[in-house]
Amino acid sequence: MSDIQWPRKTREIHSHHFDSTIWNDLKFRDNDIVIGTYAKSGTTWVQQIVSQLIFNGQEGLEVAEMSPWMDLRVPPKQVKLPEVEAQQHRRFIKTHLPVDALVFSPKAKYIYIGRDGRDVVWSMYNHHSTANEQWYDVLNNTPGRVGPPIERPCDSVHQHFDEWFEKDGHPFWPFWENVRTWWEIRNLPNVTLLHFNDLKRDMPGEIRRIASFLETPIDESKWNDIVTHCSFDYMKANATKSVPLGGAFWDGGAQNFIHKGVNGRWNETLTPAENAAYEERAVKELGPKCSDWLMKGAVPS
Ligand code: A3P
Repeated sequence: MSDIQWPRKTREIHSHHFDSTIWNDLKFRDNDIVIGTYAKSGTTWVQQIVSQLIFNGQEGLEVAEMSPWMDLRVPPKQVKLPEVEAQQHRRFIKTHLPVDALVFSPKAKYIYIGRDGRDVVWSMYNHHSTANEQWYDVLNNTPGRVGPPIERPCDSVHQHFDEWFEKDGHPFWPFWENVRTWWEIRNLPNVTLLHFNDLKRDMPGEIRRIASFLETPIDESKWNDIVTHCSFDYMKANATKSVPLGGAFWDGGAQNFIHKGVNGRWNETLTPAENAAYEERAVKELGPKCSDWLMKGAVPS
């Protein structure tokens, strides 16, 4: 372990959403779990899986509250950090930062979930276009915002894709660096990659893989509960528990956040030329192996 080159923080990221500096003050514990994604990639799903493994299939857990998005700048770090430090259970914290804006600890275990960028955009457009006034107010008017406010969404998901693609992640945050920096550290002993497609294909198998990575033995008498509580239908029906603030920021509430749970919705909209441009850019940004993984899943060796 002593020869390992652990990732180092090289920068801070501030935006309408982010305050990466909160990580600088977190006192890591030996069994901390960090769940990372670009966004709209199955973060909430994996938070639910991890909660079910830690709490042995228990129902009614306030997962969103227990597993805060650390680098979201609201509530501010002066409020959030003491709450996280006060947690007595095994902590499982969410991040949307690229690795080089995090403080990376050898003590924690890191799970990163990938999803094709086009699926991310389709999910994100739903997230953005159903956000209510409270969402804009909190993100834009909480003191400490650096940079421009988050804009209103454009008129169609197609236009949103074009702008997100042209201006790398606009109006949220850059996509390619997020995937690339996590891919680069995939072989560290305390990192594992998951993919939305693999969770869809074989959720029980992936839950077992996560359990083994986290060293949480499975109580087989609770296995059916664990799997049921991570299914799309169960999570949709109980969405207020797992979605931030019980879904208060979105028209349609928490059930709008656990939206469709499927991939490939862009197939009917994007042209062959647009798909080819996306795929070419993915290879250029990520290299052939990572771009292939991002598109299809299947855990890399
Ligand atoms: P869609 O908007 O495509 O439906 P995140 O938590 O990173 O914001 O990701 C949200 C996406 O994960 C949403 O995708 C949501 O429906 C999907 N999701 C959440 N729980 C799921 C589950 N149990 N099964 C399938 N998809 C799930």
